[in-house]
Amino acid sequence: MCGIVGYVGDKQAAPFLLDGMSKLEYRGYDSAGIAVYNKGKITIEKCVGRLADLRIKIKGHEPKGTVGIGHTRWATHGRPSDRNAHPHADESGQFVVVHNGIIENYLKLKEDLQAKGHKFLSETDTEVVAHLLADQYDGDFESTVKKVLRMIEGSYSFVFMCAKEPDKLICTKKDNPLIIGLGEGENFIASDIPAIIAHTRRTYIMSDGEIATVTKDGVWVQNIDGVPITKKVYEVTWNAEAAEKGGFQHFMLKEIYEQPKAIRDTMTGRVGKKEGEITFHELNWTKDAFADIHKIYIVACGTAYHAGIVGKYYLEKFARIPVEVDIASEFRYRDPLVDSHTLMIVISQSGETSDTLAALREAKRLGARTLAVTNVVGSSISREAQQVVYTYAGPEIAVASTKAYTTQLIVMLMLAIYVGNLRGTLDKTLAKQLTQDLKKIPEQLHSMLENVDQIKVFATQYGSCEDAFFLGRSLDYAVALEGALKLKEISYIHAEAYAAGELKHGTLALIVEGVPVIVLATQADVYPKTISNLKEVKAREAIVIAIALEGDHDIDKVADNVIYIPKTGKYLAPLLAVLPLQLLAYYAALTRGCDVDKPRNLAKSVTVE
Ligand code: F6R
Repeated sequence: MCGIVGYVGDKQAAPFLLDGMSKLEYRGYDSAGIAVYNKGKITIEKCVGRLADLRIKIKGHEPKGTVGIGHTRWATHGRPSDRNAHPHADESGQFVVVHNGIIENYLKLKEDLQAKGHKFLSETDTEVVAHLLADQYDGDFESTVKKVLRMIEGSYSFVFMCAKEPDKLICTKKDNPLIIGLGEGENFIASDIPAIIAHTRRTYIMSDGEIATVTKDGVWVQNIDGVPITKKVYEVTWNAEAAEKGGFQHFMLKEIYEQPKAIRDTMTGRVGKKEGEITFHELNWTKDAFADIHKIYIVACGTAYHAGIVGKYYLEKFARIPVEVDIASEFRYRDPLVDSHTLMIVISQSGETSDTLAALREAKRLGARTLAVTNVVGSSISREAQQVVYTYAGPEIAVASTKAYTTQLIVMLMLAIYVGNLRGTLDKTLAKQLTQDLKKIPEQLHSMLENVDQIKVFATQYGSCEDAFFLGRSLDYAVALEGALKLKEISYIHAEAYAAGELKHGTLALIVEGVPVIVLATQADVYPKTISNLKEVKAREAIVIAIALEGDHDIDKVADNVIYIPKTGKYLAPLLAVLPLQLLAYYAALTRGCDVDKPRNLAKSVTVE
């Protein structure tokens, strides 16, 4: 999730651009840049690092001019570097662009442009668009933009500048946020409200497919066919702090609500147009690549480790390779059985967790093939692993991981289907079913997020308890582990997760009257056994909140409360079942007055042992 700003008016553009970008800093980024038009020329200044580094770089010679665009980058294609920082231009420097999102067909477009003689300076998908504008320019900026938009596939918000028509900026969006701030004799563009709130509260919230031409005197909005669109002015009433959180009370809640988009972005270009197929351009593995792999290790910490446990179920089931999952801080000290026939998968949101990095190094030293699943392009883990698959969750700011976890699950599921297809171990009908179910997940999560009142009530009812238990079998057990961790870390309620079949082997002694027990019952093959375990805790007068699939009319006869999740296949259920657990933890923490985004004693990125 990059930050975008734009300015057209009578004042100097650079101060607004830098100030606006600083208001988007909370989103996290790895490089920053601005482009300003003056006297027939667009000057671009950009560099890797923080905005402060850019300010130092341009101190004393800020580009002068009253039209400009700016960008803070969160790398997706190409590591963080000066060259990969936005804005990007074509070779003539006449067309300049900033972009938030992913252009799926950029490789093909780039090859075509290179064949025509275009020279590229960066590894980004975005630079293609600047060259396309130059290549397709027909003497009219607006019509050229429309032509280019017809050629690209993917998700985006864009602001375009053209030195031949310097009085205007053109912007558009698809699946990424974009707003226009309406001023007097000046107008503003931004990816998020905090960037403009100090200048105006009157805004247009852009919708997908709308194209706006913005000058200092006005804003004209149309669709790609030239049909004019009348926009309603939206008056922002939030204060600056609320604006950073997109109107949510906490980053954690905002990030929970971002999950449908994060998952969609992570699937983009990977969940094939052909049913049952998954593509990982970045891996390009063949069947032979697996001929000599006898074992897979998945190593990670905390929430990422829990995603690894789910990954084990997927990989063993679909790819039929033995998988061991290990906590990174244990793996590195126990002389693991790793050799050149091992594939080591490390999972890390930040890509900087010191134990995970050390485990990766140890596996490399022992000769394993290594693959990182991470959310941060250019992070240490992404650089040191031989291959990388990125989750496209965007920056995660709350300490408690939510959208990173669900995108990790998506990657592990896609990876297992991919390897299963390669090895011929995954039944084709099941593969088709899986990709069909995968595509439905964002919408199903979205519908669940529209109806959270019941969860709020449970969180208030049980928020004052001292202990809670999470039970499940099979994939439900893996999700139970994550549910318990979320509750512990942000509400400080003591929570334990157990494989439901383990209860009798000790834990049942802790189940007493009034203890809340969250029972996950989404896995049809073990359902009767889970229900027996549910009855065991009910017999000890625990209070049971069950998580079950819609249409399960048996469970409400035995549980005290049931939270239903939309019907989905066995393997997809973890993606939906975790959402109520995240929300239960969030609202329980609120009830207890905890500092949700910054829980005590915890840090977002654990870079020490
Ligand atoms: C819990 C949480 C942590 C992290 C763990 C690993 O909500 O966020 O358990 O999952 O510290 O961090 P990464 O994924 O950055 O390696």
